[in-house]
Amino acid sequence: MISQKNLESRYERIVNQLQGLLRATDNRTARMATIAALLHHKMPHFFWTGFYLLMNDKLIVGPYQGPLACQILEKGKGVCWACIRKEKAINVPDVHKFPGHIPCDARSNSEIVVPLIDQKSEAWGVLDVDSRMFNAFSTADQTWLERIVKLI
Ligand code: SME
Repeated sequence: MISQKNLESRYERIVNQLQGLLRATDNRTARMATIAALLHHKMPHFFWTGFYLLMNDKLIVGPYQGPLACQILEKGKGVCWACIRKEKAINVPDVHKFPGHIPCDARSNSEIVVPLIDQKSEAWGVLDVDSRMFNAFSTADQTWLERIVKLI
């Protein structure tokens, strides 16, 4: 596990890099793919890093990095839907204790989900990160990830 200080400086470098990379296009898919790839390969505690997008009242997988994941999340169940409902980030230190958690990969033990909010203040999807460690995500992860999704 990297130290809190290292974590902060890694996020700082990631945000700087993203600010440059995302100038290439305002296409959301390209931006989400770039964010998922960069975060996944720079953060050792990230085991699955990706997006679920709200389409016709369904949460459908978007750009991601990591092992194969569920394509559609059963409506109203699990962490991602809870995040859409609350329009707030959810940090789950032990996914096995979260009622209705959807296990796309049995190796995940903790998870953080951050909402994507449009200009009308409505959620249009989530950034979801899973870890093989328990309690992998801190308030620093939450703050930086919330900042990163605003770059989409
Ligand atoms: N665990 C999530 C489903 C997505 S996977 O973690 C990639 C949930 O309960 O919503």
